[in-house]
Amino acid sequence: MGRVFNFSAGPAMMPETVLKRAAAEITDYGASGMSVMEMSHRSKVFDAIITQTEASLREVMSIPEEYKVLFLQGGATLQFAMAAMNLIGKTGKADYAVTGQFSGNAFKEGKKFGAARALVDTSDITFSKIPQQSELAVDPEASYVHYCMNNTIFGTKWPYIPETGGVPLVCDISSCILSEPVDVSRFGLLYAGAQKNMGPAGLAVVILREDVLHPISPLPTYLDYAAQIKAQSMYNTPPTYGIYLLGLVLDWVKEMGGLDAMKVYNEKKAKVVYDALDDSKLFTSKVDKQSRSMMNVVFTTNDADKDAAFIKGAAARGLVTLAGHRLVGGMRASIYNAMPMEGVEKLAQYMNEFEKEN
Ligand SMILES: Cc1ncc(COP(=O)(O)O)c(C=O)c1O
Repeated sequence: MGRVFNFSAGPAMMPETVLKRAAAEITDYGASGMSVMEMSHRSKVFDAIITQTEASLREVMSIPEEYKVLFLQGGATLQFAMAAMNLIGKTGKADYAVTGQFSGNAFKEGKKFGAARALVDTSDITFSKIPQQSELAVDPEASYVHYCMNNTIFGTKWPYIPETGGVPLVCDISSCILSEPVDVSRFGLLYAGAQKNMGPAGLAVVILREDVLHPISPLPTYLDYAAQIKAQSMYNTPPTYGIYLLGLVLDWVKEMGGLDAMKVYNEKKAKVVYDALDDSKLFTSKVDKQSRSMMNVVFTTNDADKDAAFIKGAAARGLVTLAGHRLVGGMRASIYNAMPMEGVEKLAQYMNEFEKEN
């Protein structure tokens, strides 16, 4: 079977050129005579890989010098707890914007370590709309404000960076990192799991400013950002192969023209799918138009049998993993960086054909 257009929400499609380069280097990386998977994380060759990957990430995301970059394990989920443990010690309080499943999970973790409060909670409208700035009454005593920039399951994205009156912002950017430029200087801490726009699962990236750290004590060493910073992500064995693949993905992002170009491309791709949705009388979406995600397009026919038929028919055309999350049902097209224009065009064309037949 040839390669399909995989609309999975994550782990998701990776650029084919990256996979081919990894394949070419899999048994012998840089004339080392071994695979990156086989080499010591303390070796000179791997040191060059992790150093270059960090430099590339800093370059691509324009990360200011005073920010630290960490390569950790445990996915974005561990960061829900780790961020809380390391920051909530300032005042014992924290504000959480609950706009989806993952920000809700982060809130649950935050409550384990202090007085975490829901700054806003849009569960009553099934997370279909991002709140306005005027709805956010931030507690000036909060140690931080946490939100999730792109809600992978519900298909919404914050169209603005919230103003918090000086309270540090912590943000989960798992499903939108590298999709467009982000002003890192607005944040105290950013984190993301790799398996959408950065490579395979197993790696989490954390970008933080040290002045936000006010840990509870004692912390397990692995979960202590200060210890991880001191050890340069090498307190224990880091996810070496994921770090190497992130480096290759970043090379590809640079070849694509960087994040400004990535944004233009992603906007064009998303427009193809949203136009098909807006032109349709069969497919609908609950998502507020101002809150639409550029990465995850959620839609339905409002008929479970028709949704199932659509998903089955799409798979027969090589458009796979279009079923919505179990909490939402219907369809979800995740169109991350590596999804080519051809994939979204084929999807829009099929939506059109399916509508005519139904
Ligand atoms: C926005 C967001 N945050 C967190 C997670 C959880 O990530 P992980 O599985 O890496 O822990 C996901 C997973 O899809 C996600 O989309």
